[in-house]
Amino acid sequence: MSYGLLKGKKGIISGALNESSIAWKVALRAKEEGASFVLTNAPIAMRMGEINKLSEACEAQIIPADATSVEDLENLYGKSMEVLGGKVDFVLHSIGMSPNIRKGKAYQDLNYQWYQQSLDVSALSFHKFMQVGDKMDAFNEWASIVGLSYIAAQRVFPFYTDMADAKALLESIARSFGYRLGKTKKVRVNTISQSPTKTTAGSGIGGFDSFFDFADKMSPLGNATAEQCADYVITLFSDLTKMVTMQNLFHDGGYSFTGISEEVIEMMKQQ
Ligand SMILES: NC(=O)c1ccc[n+]([C@@H]2O[C@H](COP(=O)([O-])OP(=O)(O)OC[C@H]3O[C@@H](n4cnc5c(N)ncnc54)[C@H](O)[C@@H]3O)[C@@H](O)[C@H]2O)c1
Repeated sequence: MSYGLLKGKKGIISGALNESSIAWKVALRAKEEGASFVLTNAPIAMRMGEINKLSEACEAQIIPADATSVEDLENLYGKSMEVLGGKVDFVLHSIGMSPNIRKGKAYQDLNYQWYQQSLDVSALSFHKFMQVGDKMDAFNEWASIVGLSYIAAQRVFPFYTDMADAKALLESIARSFGYRLGKTKKVRVNTISQSPTKTTAGSGIGGFDSFFDFADKMSPLGNATAEQCADYVITLFSDLTKMVTMQNLFHDGGYSFTGISEEVIEMMKQQ
């Protein structure tokens, strides 16, 4: 159902790799709600070509950008403002990658070059998105910037290794930049801490299926899906949440505040 929540709004959506990506669902919902936007992803991710389907469905131009490159982001904002005919009202940062996770490195055995890459791609890029946009005066007043996080920023999930540190940094950047952009431009910045979700990034994490089921059994409402995450993102892009900023917002069916559930107790008994 469409509520016209983003009618007339312009934005940038990063991170749609394939149909299971959270960003993919956000793009479809943003289109439904009346927004016009550009899509962006790392040039290497474009090679798979999947994003072209989304671009057609949303009538959205694709502007490639490696989110770790300030130059690419300058080009992204410049071209976006040209294509959209003005400044932007929303930005989705839906980007994460850890070479250590990909290569199965444990937290006590991290490769430091890869560790820096994890932080650069998954966290510093959020800062770069805001610093470049701010310097280029690309944000309209009351624009909304959203990043995606995971509860490993607050609690230990051993398999999440260096991405836990990246998410802690991402959430801190949301607060620090949110303060400044709030003061200077009335722009809001938040992160959404999402349930485990079956996507390319999610499924790359060791033991994903088991902890997906565990989280589902722990959450009174069950795990939040990618579609439901997209709905939540849309509310944050809309004018209905204008005074929400510098927050890390849990979108997890109640997982973050549950100590234990009957289902998990039952599972333990069966062992
Ligand atoms: N899937 C989950 O369980 C889950 C849970 C909580 C939070 N998140 C977060 O949601 C966000 C989106 O992930 P997803 O689950 O939709 O997976 P996904 O794999 O579909 O999306 C990750 C995206 O990051 C992009 N990316 C990687 N390196 C990049 C770079 N250098 N420049 C630009 N883009 C780059 C990839 O191309 C991809 O599109 C990530 O921040 C992820 O950590 C995911």
